[in-house]
Amino acid sequence: MATLLAPEDLEKLKRHLVDTRGLDLSQYSDAFLERRLLARMGHNQIGTFKDYMGLLAKTPVEYQKLIDSLTINVTGFFRDNELSEKTLNPIFDGLWSRSGTQIRPMVIWSAGCATGQEPYTVAMVVDSYVTQRASLGLKYQILATDFNEEQLKAARPGLYPKAAMSAVPAHYRSKYLRDHGDKVQVADSLVKKVQFKRHDLATHPPIDHIDLILCRNVMIYFTTPAKNQILHRFHRCLTPRGILILGASEIVLLHGIFKTVDREHKIYTKIDSDQEVS
Ligand SMILES: C[S@@+](CC[C@H](N)C(=O)[O-])C[C@H]1O[C@@H](n2cnc3c(N)ncnc32)[C@H](O)[C@@H]1O
Repeated sequence: MATLLAPEDLEKLKRHLVDTRGLDLSQYSDAFLERRLLARMGHNQIGTFKDYMGLLAKTPVEYQKLIDSLTINVTGFFRDNELSEKTLNPIFDGLWSRSGTQIRPMVIWSAGCATGQEPYTVAMVVDSYVTQRASLGLKYQILATDFNEEQLKAARPGLYPKAAMSAVPAHYRSKYLRDHGDKVQVADSLVKKVQFKRHDLATHPPIDHIDLILCRNVMIYFTTPAKNQILHRFHRCLTPRGILILGASEIVLLHGIFKTVDREHKIYTKIDSDQEVS
């Protein structure tokens, strides 16, 4: 039913999202925005952009649905089994073997954390790593950011439907999850470790002194120049030999500032200015 949109319609929507919700989509590809918008119009059986804007003005629920679809919030615990201990433990070995890191907390940043499943997944793996090496006294902090405040609100309590936990390995379930009525509660010790904060990757300044960045299934929204800019910002905020993990289907140019550690799992390490580019 919905027809193609004019470029000025997309511009109008972008302006509206900035003015009403502070959501800056100026760096998102138009093709992506158009696909999402047409899908919402089709769902509501609305054929024109003008009518859809009318619906948004009087239906807050549809407005939130549009925002959620533009920020596609699909996520999951141990999603695609990419953040297993098999993948992460060698990264922790490397990061903690750098001089000076054992006496300060290692900082992990889940950038584009959606409703928290990704940072809580990495929290289970890193906490288990640290506990198994208790005599070393290793410490860590996890920062989890997203630009969708509604998702952060859902993430903070660490409370999820039981079905969301099906991919969590049994040994983590018994250690870090508790039944809570018809839901499951992430252990308080982990909830306290994850600090959730609103942050827009496209427009906000980078966060400093990060050892490991997870930015999975987020870059897909951005235009190539915006992806490049974000990658340079990540490079700036990582500590020497810091690690970046992207989502399995993401393609970025490394610009000689990152080198590949594991192509299959999209793991990269920062090239410091005094290192050879390879
Ligand atoms: C598909 S989810 C990925 C969640 C998680 N990283 C994973 O892979 O399971 C993408 C997330 O990126 C967030 N996002 C999109 N654009 C963003 C931006 N400019 N700044 C911060 N977060 C953004 C969305 O709100 C959404 O929660």
